[in-house]
Amino acid sequence: MARWSAWAAAFCVVAALSAGLPTDPETRAASAPAKTDEADEDSPEVMPEGQGRDETFYACVGCHSTMLIRRQGMTEAQWSATLDFMTERHGMPKLEEPDRTLVLNYLARTYGPKPSTRPASPFLQKLN
Ligand code: HEC
Repeated sequence: MARWSAWAAAFCVVAALSAGLPTDPETRAASAPAKTDEADEDSPEVMPEGQGRDETFYACVGCHSTMLIRRQGMTEAQWSATLDFMTERHGMPKLEEPDRTLVLNYLARTYGPKPSTRPASPFLQKLN
């Protein structure tokens, strides 16, 4: 019995090795999925024109595409909480005044809870 276990253990090691699991970091990096969000094509113009647009764009796209922002519809209070959340949770540099108000007003005005001109997400429609 002891002898059989030793063989079984040896077999497992060989099987694991020959399964070709990428163990060196370089192989793993190469097989990681390429970054595919559309951040590369993002520019301030993807958001409706308005005071504070550029400030908003540059404050936010360092970390993610504007898509995350554009698909929202929030009240000013919710946007304000989102700004705090980005800072507290994700390490966004705290927006100082007057930029914070500028960005907040832009977001609340442009991506408020009211139905906007762009088609709403079908999921959101169902919730309303
Ligand atoms: C330092 C990095 C960073 C910056 C700068 C940043 N965010 Fe984010 N944000 C994140 C991360 C990370 C997520 C993804 C978290 C998640 O999936 O819930 C996120 C998610 C979001 C979401 C989606 C939340 C949800 O519930 O799906 C919104 C809205 C958002 N950010 C708004 C903003 C706005 C507006 C700005 C600019 C004022 C901004 N973010 C700047 C890191 C950042």
